Amino acid sequence: MRQTPYDMLGGEAGVRALAAAFYDAMDRLEEAHDIRVMHAANLDEIKDKLFEYLSGWLGGPPLYRQKYGGICLTKAHAPYAIGEKERDQWLRCMEEALIEVGAPEELRQAAKVPFFRIADTVRNRRDDTAASSAHAC
Ligand code: HEM
Repeated sequence: MRQTPYDMLGGEAGVRALAAAFYDAMDRLEEAHDIRVMHAANLDEIKDKLFEYLSGWLGGPPLYRQKYGGICLTKAHAPYAIGEKERDQWLRCMEEALIEVGAPEELRQAAKVPFFRIADTVRNRRDDTAASSAHAC
């Protein structure tokens, strides 16, 4: 059977490390400043939530759904102004996090398009017109 991305990252410990590395990158990288300031000063809770969400999204146990009963990412992000710039900052942090946890090159390449799609789904601004969401849940 083919390994899931969850398996390729080393299962629970690997995906937890990815979520932590993601927010640590956001905290550290100057180029992620615009999205860092949208978040709380303490990132512990959001690290847990991203870990739980990614666990299911990457093919492991659907922890977020089990705990919170599911999420509409579009609605959850509606209070934040997310355009291409913010989307790309998020993707930059994820790219950095994947490198830091030692994700295999094959996985990093294969994950690019799915991560782009999910981040673009959360986008709710068009940079040219400042128009609102074109996406639904
Ligand atoms: C595209 C740029 C994105 C920005 C700027 C962004 C920003 C945010 C912010 C500001 C919060 C609230 C944090 C808080 O309560 O302190 C949040 C929550 C969250 N985000 Fe994102 N996000 C983005 C993309 C994504 C993507 C692509 C995913 C999933 C792969 C995701 C997963 C989550 C989850 C699971 C939560 C917690 C929701 C909850 O339970 O309240 N985000 N995000």
